[in-house]
Amino acid sequence: MKTKSLSFSLIVTVILLGIGGWLVLFFHMTGTANHPAVLSGAMSPGAMANGTAGALANGAQPLEVAFNPPALEDAPAKNREAVLLGYKIMTETKKYAGEYVGNNLACTNCHFDGGRSKDTISLVGVASVYPHYRSRANFSTDLTLRTMDCFQRSMNSVAPPADSKIMQALTAYYQWISKGIPIYAEVPWIGLPKMPEDHKPDPAAGGTVYKDVCARCHGAEGQGTPIAPAVWGPGSYNDGAGMNRVTTFSAFAWRFMPKASPSLTKEQALDVAAFVHAKPRPHYAKPGAKPAGNTPAAPGAQAATQPAAAK
Ligand code: HEC
Ligand code: HEC
Repeated sequence: MKTKSLSFSLIVTVILLGIGGWLVLFFHMTGTANHPAVLSGAMSPGAMANGTAGALANGAQPLEVAFNPPALEDAPAKNREAVLLGYKIMTETKKYAGEYVGNNLACTNCHFDGGRSKDTISLVGVASVYPHYRSRANFSTDLTLRTMDCFQRSMNSVAPPADSKIMQALTAYYQWISKGIPIYAEVPWIGLPKMPEDHKPDPAAGGTVYKDVCARCHGAEGQGTPIAPAVWGPGSYNDGAGMNRVTTFSAFAWRFMPKASPSLTKEQALDVAAFVHAKPRPHYAKPGAKPAGNTPAAPGAQAATQPAAAK
């Protein structure tokens, strides 16, 4: 009896030890297996600083993506109205969001075909790379906040509220034209190219480039013509806009101007950017701050001169 119970408890001990060991091993293995999975989804600090989705950490290959924005009419029935409205806001901004336009521009003037083109500041895939870090905010920024920036600066106005139909239509639109592009993919056509830093932009040489190449479409006084929008003066973006940076303007002009047949060297693009940069344009009034009394306002730019709190 005694030996029997002794061997019984021995067997039980062995079984319990076996189960315990197996459990320890199991959690250890699944634990380590989880780490690479988490890491491969994380962006490297370099890619985040770049502001775009970039190389993946842990040596994983970046995801391959193809440029193939879906037709707007194919948007799911429940979202179609919002997606179509978003496109109209992009392309006919004054008509569909006139309250928030303080110059003579439309979004599509910089984001050609409402950002659906590859040869522009493309918005195809933006919904897959936002939210991301932006130095302007020194924090992560989503597409609503990013869009507000373009209203306040590029469109020289105040931004529609996040819960407005306008903002919700735009975000539905970005999401649809980003369809099929995985979150955190590297989207090569997003963002503007880097310009050389060893060329000192020469505004005088840029004046000649402007006269010879740009004036026929954008007007001798930068005021715009029926063919192309204003590049300076009251009808243009304000001095807080991304386009008001010589680096951004020159990258845009080098890559995309003249429209459909870009022809500048990088040096010419930097020169013409410096020339345009020196011209007058509306002043950026910080949202919520008292607007400057002498802000040169565009005709019909009532929104630009009102405090943001009024909206
Ligand atoms: C053949 C006519 C044409 C020429 C020449 C041309 N552009 Fe444009 N540009 C356009 C059009 C059209 C748009 C707006 C595109 C749209 O709405 O799809 C545009 C848009 C722009 C924009 C963004 C919108 C704005 O007005 O701020 C800038 C900046 C610009 N062009 C700069 C230049 C510069 C600099 C040159 C000369 C190197 C130049 N363009 C030459 C037709 C032209
Ligand atoms: C005068 C030119 C201009 C106009 C007009 C303009 N934008 Fe932009 N937009 C820019 C520039 C420049 C950037 C920054 C591109 C970059 O950093 O690579 C940008 C970036 C964006 C982005 C983020 C894209 C990215 O790659 O990070 C969104 C979204 C956007 N704009 C929406 C809009 C909307 C909506 C409108 C109209 C209400 C508009 N923009 C009007 C110049 C313009």
